[in-house]
Amino acid sequence: MGLLLKKTVVLVGMMGAGKTAVGRALAQRLGVPFLDSDAEIVKAANMSIAEIFARDGEPFFRSKETQIIERLLDEERGILSTGGGAYLSDTNRAMISEKGVAVWLDADLDLLWNRVRHKDTRPLLRTSNPKATLTEIFDARVPVYELSDLSVKADPRYSIDDMAERVVTALL
Ligand code: S3P
Repeated sequence: MGLLLKKTVVLVGMMGAGKTAVGRALAQRLGVPFLDSDAEIVKAANMSIAEIFARDGEPFFRSKETQIIERLLDEERGILSTGGGAYLSDTNRAMISEKGVAVWLDADLDLLWNRVRHKDTRPLLRTSNPKATLTEIFDARVPVYELSDLSVKADPRYSIDDMAERVVTALL
C-alpha cells in the first residue's frame, strides 16, 4: 500500500550526491511514484543531457528543466529527483517551496569528486580541470542548497538504503 504524501519530496544537491539512487530507493520504500527531472528531459528530447547541452546550450536545458519540474509537481505526488543545477533557479525554488518539500542531500566535496571523477556524463565537468570546476560549482551552490527545507548528510559509509532511511527520519 502506498503512502499518501501531502507534498512531493524534492531531492536537491550536487551531482554525485545520490539524488537519483536515493530517490528511487525512497520511492520504493514509501510505495509512491519516483520522478526524475533529468530522465524526463532526456525522454522528451530523445537525446542525452550531454547532447542537449552540446546542441542547444545550457539555457535551453534550463528552460526545459523548469517546464518539466513544473509539470511533474503538478501531475502527481511522489519523490522527485532533480538535476544538480535545478535548485539554483529562483523560479524552480518558488515552485518547489509551494508544491514540495526540498531535501538537500549534503555531500562533501571529496565524496562528490570520488563519485563523479570516473564518469564522463556531466557536461559541466568537461573542462581542462574538472576538479577545480567541481569545487567552484560546489562553493557557489552550497549557500543555495542551504535554503532547502531539510538536509540529510551523505557519507561514504551510508548505503543508498541508509540514506533513504535518513530522509524518512528527516521528514517525520
Ligand atoms: C547538472 C547536473 C546533472 C544534469 C546536468 C546539469 C548541474 O544532474 O542536470 O548535467 O548543473 O549540476 P545530476 O545532478 O543528476 O548529475
